[in-house]
Amino acid sequence: MTTGWGRSVAGPDLSDAEFRLLCDFFSERLGLLFSDASFYTFERRLGERVVELGLSSFHEYYTNLRFNNRFGQEVETATELVTTAETYFFRQEYQLRSFGLELLPKLQAELAEQKRLVVWSAGCSTGEEAYTIAILIRESGLFEGWDIRVIGSDLCRSRVAIARRGVYRDNSFRVTDDDRRRRYFNEHSDGWQVLPEIQAMCHFGQLNLLDRMVSSVGRVHVVFCRNVLIYFTDSARAQVLQNLHRRLVPGGYLFLGHSESLVSVSTAFELVHLSGDLVYRKPITAGKKGDL
Ligand SMILES: C[S@@+](CC[C@H](N)C(=O)[O-])C[C@H]1O[C@@H](n2cnc3c(N)ncnc32)[C@H](O)[C@@H]1O
Repeated sequence: MTTGWGRSVAGPDLSDAEFRLLCDFFSERLGLLFSDASFYTFERRLGERVVELGLSSFHEYYTNLRFNNRFGQEVETATELVTTAETYFFRQEYQLRSFGLELLPKLQAELAEQKRLVVWSAGCSTGEEAYTIAILIRESGLFEGWDIRVIGSDLCRSRVAIARRGVYRDNSFRVTDDDRRRRYFNEHSDGWQVLPEIQAMCHFGQLNLLDRMVSSVGRVHVVFCRNVLIYFTDSARAQVLQNLHRRLVPGGYLFLGHSESLVSVSTAFELVHLSGDLVYRKPITAGKKGDL
């Protein structure tokens, strides 16, 4: 197999027809949408699996993924290989500033009686987003003695395992200042480990956002689902938004990534203007079941 740059890697060539079959499979099974730009990622990463499994072609690999029940675990491996895990602490900081300075004081006032706040990082990858949220809640100083839960969930088991371990290398700190790194992380032989008191606020689990099991998350006050919807087909995006809507309490907030919007996808949320950003909210008048 030769890449577009003429570099040889182990594995068979991927034909256009095989690429289409694999894309259709991921779309039908997981709602994932791939463009032609993913061709070489498929060829390189899945090609290595074809070789490792002793198969002769991508077509054989595809046939097993789709029709062989004993290949169930391989679907997860393949998904991990073709989806992006890109994430880092304090990503899209302007949005986090709005969350910390405007939304948290509002939530503290609104939830003062129950003293309970639940925030969900839906599609958390390796956990940096969930820990960032926990750090912002801690830094606000508004929630002493409260029951705080930051839930992080991702489709990929290996990413959830990294999140639970909470040890990160420099790449995860690309926009984090040294002061914060020293305050919330301990040096570790493999990098930097999140402080136990921040880790104790966070709970991680494997979850497909398209699945009915999303109900296991319970009711949440804020959802961060950033840089996740861009990878979905239209129908999968609508299904995920319906699931997130159901999990939010009436009046709860939804943060999307900066290139994501609900225009022509869902009318179930209203737009709220914060000083530094726009955020979506489930209307207070939405029924308790949160049906769309
Ligand atoms: C690019 S990362 C975004 C991480 C983080 N939210 C951020 O903005 O930094 C996208 C994550 O979405 C996850 N993902 C993709 N499809 C998913 C699904 N159906 N259910 C749950 N997570 C999914 C991927 O495994 C990946 O870790």
